[in-house]
Amino acid sequence: MLSSVPVIVLHGGAGYWEGKNLDNVTSTLREASRRGFEEFRRGSSIEAVVEAISFMEDSGVFDAGKGSVRNSEGKVEMDAGIMDGKTLSAGSVVLVKAGNPIRKALQVMKRGKHVIVAESEGNSMPTLNSGNSGDTVGAVALDLEGRIVAGTSTGGIAGKDPGRIGDSPIPGAGFYATERVGVSSTGIGEVILKMLPAKEIDTLVSIGILLDDALNSVVNKVSHVFGKGNIGIIGVSKYGEVSAHFNTKGMPRCYQNKEKIQCLVFGGDFS
Ligand code: GLY
Repeated sequence: MLSSVPVIVLHGGAGYWEGKNLDNVTSTLREASRRGFEEFRRGSSIEAVVEAISFMEDSGVFDAGKGSVRNSEGKVEMDAGIMDGKTLSAGSVVLVKAGNPIRKALQVMKRGKHVIVAESEGNSMPTLNSGNSGDTVGAVALDLEGRIVAGTSTGGIAGKDPGRIGDSPIPGAGFYATERVGVSSTGIGEVILKMLPAKEIDTLVSIGILLDDALNSVVNKVSHVFGKGNIGIIGVSKYGEVSAHFNTKGMPRCYQNKEKIQCLVFGGDFS
């Protein structure tokens, strides 16, 4: 659908979702959306995305930040990435043990020397793990200046090997932003890394495909190659088109503009 600008779109991860505490998940997503949107008053899409994702990281509700799942050694290793479509600058952090990974990714992007930096030291923070009912989180935003930003943050996959890195901190896989589109992916990193859906969506839009058709086509392609139950994507275009597609049971997601906020978990389109 076509939204007014500015607009922010969020997800709380593609997954099974049935039987989970969806009231808590949806209210947390709504508050993250509200906080992110509020940032448009004083900042750009960068601040909107970082604020929304930081709130989700701090909530303990999702597999990111304080809710991060543990690896096979019982430790937390988080990944996150952010990209500014106006400048094509990007920053990611991997194997982060504590704090807000998305804010650390923002520092890498602002510094500009490297794109992906691993956190080599630090003690794992205590997590709120048992209460986590969610998955990877992400946000994309378009502001009044036309700046599109995409960000994603995750604790990865439960029981993963130490040192495993998924799709979330990889530009073109877990997130991507250009002057045309912003995309955040969620799902099984080992699938997403082989398909680079976020980059493909920008390519499709660059040849004239509508954003919604581009997301739908890429999710269908992943389903065709790897089966269902492994991916979800949100996107925004420079025209204010917003879209979400997934091949899992559900994917909590919201969009917010100055007129409304709409959140969905299972099927249905933004309206
Ligand atoms: N999509 C999150 C991960 O696989 O790490």
